Amino acid sequence: MLSIITLPDEILRKRSKEVDREFVLLKKTQKLIEEMIVTMKTADGVGLAAPQVGESIRLCMINQTADETNLKNDLVLINPVWKKMSIKKAIMEEGCLSVPKTYGKVKRYVKIKIDALNEKGEKISFIASGLLARVIQHEVDHLDGILFIDKAKNIYQIE
Ligand code: CO
Repeated sequence: MLSIITLPDEILRKRSKEVDREFVLLKKTQKLIEEMIVTMKTADGVGLAAPQVGESIRLCMINQTADETNLKNDLVLINPVWKKMSIKKAIMEEGCLSVPKTYGKVKRYVKIKIDALNEKGEKISFIASGLLARVIQHEVDHLDGILFIDKAKNIYQIE
C-alpha cells in the first residue's frame, strides 16, 4: 500500500501533468495504477488521485463501490476532461483522504460528460450523473491542485 499524502503537503496544490499513451503503457505506470487501486480500497476511499500518493500526473480513479448502480468496475481516468451536461448543481457532504476528519457541503454539477484515457491507453467518453459525477469532479479537482475545502460550506471536523 502507498502512503496517502495529507495537507499541508504542497504536492496537493500543484497542477498535475498530462501524460501520453506510451507513458500509460509503461510497466511502472501499470504498477502505480495497481498500487493506487489497492491503496484506495484499503483506505476505503471512493476515489484517489495520483497527487495524493505523491505523483504529479493526471491520473485518478473511482472506486466501484462509490456508485454500484452505475459502475461495473473500478474506473481509471487518465488526462480526464469533463464538461457540464446540466445547469443544475446539487449540494452534498464530501470528505477527502488527504484532508482527514474534515467534512463539508459542496455544490457540484449533477450531470457531466467525461473524455479520458483508460488504463489501457484507450480513449473513453461517457456521461455520468449523480454520485459518480460528483466523485469524478472531486478527483479531477485534485489534478488541478484544488481540494474540496476550497469549495465547501459548513466545514466541520471530527475527532
Ligand atoms: Co479527495
